[in-house]
Amino acid sequence: MLELMRKRRSIRKFKKDRIAQTAIDALKEAVLRSPSSRGNRPWKFFFVQDAGVITRLSRCKESGAAFLKDAPLAVVVCGDESASDVWIEDCSIAAIILHLTAESLGLGSCWIQVRNRIYNSESTSEDYVRNILGIDLPVRVLAIIAIGLPDEVKAGHPYESLDQGKVIA
Ligand SMILES: Cc1cc2nc3c(=O)[nH]c(=O)nc-3n(C[C@H](O)[C@H](O)[C@H](O)COP(=O)(O)O)c2cc1C
Repeated sequence: MLELMRKRRSIRKFKKDRIAQTAIDALKEAVLRSPSSRGNRPWKFFFVQDAGVITRLSRCKESGAAFLKDAPLAVVVCGDESASDVWIEDCSIAAIILHLTAESLGLGSCWIQVRNRIYNSESTSEDYVRNILGIDLPVRVLAIIAIGLPDEVKAGHPYESLDQGKVIA
């Protein structure tokens, strides 16, 4: 795990290649194995591979999401706030497990924040995404994780760059 963390970076450029079904199955298994408060599992994960839908999702906010249009896979991470008072924590952990599992499979990925973001003056990014996916369940949209074969090389953060002052011992 530490070796994975040493290499891990957010990747925003992807090759056109589709992701192997075995890798997609592994990503699905990994999120479903995430821990959650009281084992509530208040989440729903939408695995989107349709290029047209992904392009529309990439417009969910003014900045920070456009790169999604070139990703072969978008995982929309949602949570049911009536099922858990800590759905944000539960869903965030699952999203990061997705990010790290992608890294372990040789895939690049990046979190795109949706909750608390706006699409335009009339609509939130959450409403926009729910509408595109036709979600009529009472779920909140936390984030989209863009995933694909990396088309950029980024070195892990050097040990010397870590902010040791953040750890009190
Ligand atoms: C809660 C959260 C929200 C983020 N939202 C976005 C986003 O909307 N767009 C984006 O390009 N990156 C987003 N990121 C990725 C961060 O920008 C990235 O983790 C940070 O710049 C550090 O880079 P690194 O992951 O390569 O170490 C988000 C990350 C987190 C944890």
